[in-house]
Amino acid sequence: MAKTSQNSLSRSLGTLKQWTKITGGLQGETDHGSFRLLVYNAHTLRISVTPDDRGFEDFSYAVVGTPEATEFQVSDEAQALIVTTPALRVVVSKHPVRFTFQTTDLAIINEDDVAFGTSWNGDQVTTYKKLQDGERFIGLGEKTGPLDRRGQGYTNWNTDSFAYSTGTDPLYVTIPFYIGLHHSLAYGIFFDNSHKSFFNFGASNNRFSSFAADAGEMNYYFIHDTSVANIVKQYTFLTGRMEMPPLWSIGFQQCRYSYYPDKEVLTLANTFRDKDIPADVIVFDIHYMEQYKIFTWSKKDFPDPKKLLEQLRALGFQVVVMCDPGIKVEEGYPAYDDGVQKDVFIKYPDGTNYSGQVWPGWCHFPDFTNPKARQWWQDQFQDYIDLGVEGFWNDMNEIATWGHMLPENIEMDFDGDKSSMRRGRNLYGFQMARSTYEGTKALLKGKRPFNLTRSGYSGVQRYGAVWTGDNVAYDEHMIMGARMVSNMGLGGIAFAGYDVGGFVGDANTRLYARWVSIGAFAPFFRGHAMINSRDSEPWAYGEETEQISRNYIKFRYQLLPYIYSLFYEAVQTGMPVQRALVLDYAFDHKIYDGQFYNQYLFGPSILVAPVESTKDLAKVYLPEGKWYSLYDGKTFQGNAEIIVECPVHRLPVFVKAGALLPMQPTINHTQQISDTLILHVYTGASSTFSYYTDDGSTFAYQTDAYAKREISYDDNQRQLRLEASEGTYAAPWKNLEVIVHGLEKGGRQVRVNNEDKSLEHRVNRFFSPLEKFDPIYDPEPAPQEDVHGLSLPYSSGAIVIRW
Ligand code: NOJ
Repeated sequence: MAKTSQNSLSRSLGTLKQWTKITGGLQGETDHGSFRLLVYNAHTLRISVTPDDRGFEDFSYAVVGTPEATEFQVSDEAQALIVTTPALRVVVSKHPVRFTFQTTDLAIINEDDVAFGTSWNGDQVTTYKKLQDGERFIGLGEKTGPLDRRGQGYTNWNTDSFAYSTGTDPLYVTIPFYIGLHHSLAYGIFFDNSHKSFFNFGASNNRFSSFAADAGEMNYYFIHDTSVANIVKQYTFLTGRMEMPPLWSIGFQQCRYSYYPDKEVLTLANTFRDKDIPADVIVFDIHYMEQYKIFTWSKKDFPDPKKLLEQLRALGFQVVVMCDPGIKVEEGYPAYDDGVQKDVFIKYPDGTNYSGQVWPGWCHFPDFTNPKARQWWQDQFQDYIDLGVEGFWNDMNEIATWGHMLPENIEMDFDGDKSSMRRGRNLYGFQMARSTYEGTKALLKGKRPFNLTRSGYSGVQRYGAVWTGDNVAYDEHMIMGARMVSNMGLGGIAFAGYDVGGFVGDANTRLYARWVSIGAFAPFFRGHAMINSRDSEPWAYGEETEQISRNYIKFRYQLLPYIYSLFYEAVQTGMPVQRALVLDYAFDHKIYDGQFYNQYLFGPSILVAPVESTKDLAKVYLPEGKWYSLYDGKTFQGNAEIIVECPVHRLPVFVKAGALLPMQPTINHTQQISDTLILHVYTGASSTFSYYTDDGSTFAYQTDAYAKREISYDDNQRQLRLEASEGTYAAPWKNLEVIVHGLEKGGRQVRVNNEDKSLEHRVNRFFSPLEKFDPIYDPEPAPQEDVHGLSLPYSSGAIVIRW
C-alpha cells in the first residue's frame, strides 16, 4: 500500500480542551495545537499558535513595546470565550478554535476562515482570514505593486534585486505588516515571524486573505483603531520609532558608484558651492576602499582621508561611507585576522566559517545576531570616527553574494537562541543596521550618527533610514519609487528614499529634472548613479535642468524647519514624513485609483503629485477641502479631479488650506544658520502644527534641550497663536516673518499681542524664473503670489496675531 505523507496534509487548530487565564491574557489547548492571547493595550492583541504544547516563542528582534496595564474581561460562554478590551472584542469560538475580532458594538472587523483558521501544512504555518465585502489591503512596506493589494500575493525573502522591475517581488526588506479596510473599519496585522513568509490578499482565490511562514509559530499582533494613522502609531509602539537624525542628513546627499580619486571628490564639493546648489553630503561608495575591503582606504586614490575630510568639512560637507558586511578572506587584513581570532563570523553546522563571494572576492560575514560580533563590529569603526566620519551606509546585507543562493544551513547565534539562515536571512540586514547604529552611536559619544540600510525587517526604523535599492532610470520606476516610500511610511519607516536620477541606466534631461523635484519632497533625498553610467549631478544635464534642480533643492532647504518638525513627529508617534493619502482619506475610493495612488502628503499639508517627465498636463485628485497651488496660490475646491499643467520645471504641488509651514531663507548647507523664521499661513481652514527644533546633532533633545511650540490658526477668528516655546534650547531666530496666503488684496490692520501693526501686501516667490532657458514651456515670469506679510522680532514667549 502506498504511504500517505502526513506532512503535506493541512491540519488546523482543533476544539478547545481547556483554557486558563494568564497574566495579561489567556491560554488554551485544543485537540490539535495550543494558543495564547495577550492584551498589549486596548487596541492591540497578540495571538500565538503552536501545533503542539511545546510552549510559545518569546523571542523577537522586531518588538520593543511591552504589554501595558489594560483592563479586559474574559467571559466563558457555551460556544466561545469572549475577551473584551475598552476598544475591541474578540470571540474565540470553541468548536474549533477560531478568532473573530469585533468592535465594541459588535461589527465584525476581521474573522478567521471558519474551516481553516490557523493551519499547518508540513512545517508551514498559515492563518486564513475570511475576505470581507469590499475589503482593501495596504502595506507590507517596501513592495512594488498598487496601493490596494487586493488580488495580489507577496513573498518576504530579502533579496539583492538589482535593476528590479515594477512587478518584482521580493525586494530587500521584509515588513510583514498590513492594514485591512472595509465598511469604514480599519485593522492592522503584524505577523512577526522572520522565516520566508507569504501574504495572500485574495490572490488566486475568492475566499480568504492569508499570511504564512515556512516554519516557526503563528505569532501575530492584531491592531484595531479609529484611523490608519492610529494603527501606524500602534504598530510603531510595538516595533519602535526612529531617533532624531542629524540635521545634515535630511539635506541633499550626492552619491555615485563611485567618486574617486580625492581630487574628484573635492571638485564635486566645490562645484556645488560654485553653482549655488545646496548640498550637505558626499557619499563614498566602494572605491574609497583598498580592493573593496571595508575599514581600509585606497592608498592610491585616498592617500590622506583625514585631510580630505577636513577640506570637505570646511566646505560644509559631511561624508557617508559605504559599509559592506563581507570581510575579505585574506591573512594580514586586520578586520579578517581579528574577526577570525574573535570568532565572529556566521558558520556552517560543522563549525567552519561560511565563505561567499562579493566585491572583494571570497568573504566571511559577521554574525550580527551575536553580541560578541556586534561589539567587534563597533570596534572596527573607531578609525572612521577618528577621521570625522558620522554617516554610514549598510549595503549588500540581504546577504548579497554572487550566485544569489545563500545556503540555508548556515547558522546564526540569535543571541543564544541558535537558528539557521531559514530564520535568519530576513533579519541579517536589520541586525547589521542595528550593529552599525548602536556601535557608531556609542563611539560618537553623544553625537547622532546617520545610518542607511538597504535590507531590513520590521523595527529597522530604530536604526536608520532605508532606500529602495537599485532602481532604474525610467519614468515608471521613478513614480513607483515615490509610492514605495509612502508604503514604507505605512510600515513604520519614516526615513526613506530612492536614488534620484535612477541607479541603473542613464536618465535624460527631463527625467532627472522631474526626479529631483519629486525627491525634494522625499524624507531621504539623495542622487545616485551606477558605475559606467553617465554623469548624474544636478549640472550634468544642461542649464535648464541645473536651474530646475537648484530651484527644488533650494526649496527643500527653505522647508527644513517644517521637515525637521515632521521628523520629530515621527520620533514621537511613528507618523511618517511622507504620507500615503490613505493615512488621511482611507475611505475615499478615489485615492486607490491608479491615476492617483502615487500622490501623497509631505507632512500634513503639502500634497505632491508625482508625474512622469514626459507629461506637460496631469490629472490630479484633490481630496476634500480647499487647496492652493504652491507656485501661484491659485485655489481649488477639493473632492475633485483637476487637470493641471506640469511642464518639467513645475511638479504639481498643492498646499492645504490651514497649512502652517515654518520655513527659512535659503541656505547652502545646514551648518549655515539663518536668523529668520518664515511662517506661512494658508487661510481658509483652522489647524495646528507642532514646530520643533534642537541643536541638530546631539541627543540632548532626549532630556529637554529642544525648542517646541504649538502653533494654531483659527480661521473663524482670523487668529494665529504661537504658544511660548517649551524646552531649554534657544532657537537661532532673531526675526519672525508671517506670510498670510489667501486674504483679499489691500493692507489691513493686525493686532500683535494687543499692539496695532499692519499686514502689508507682499509678493511671494518660492522659485526663481526659468524663462531664459525655457521659452516654450514657461513664457511667463517666475510664478508668484500676492500675499500679506508682517515682520516681527522673534520671541520665544507666546505671540497672538489677529487680523
Ligand atoms: C549596491 C547598492 O545598491 C548600490 O547603491 C551601490 O552603488 C553598489 N552596491 C556598489 O556599492
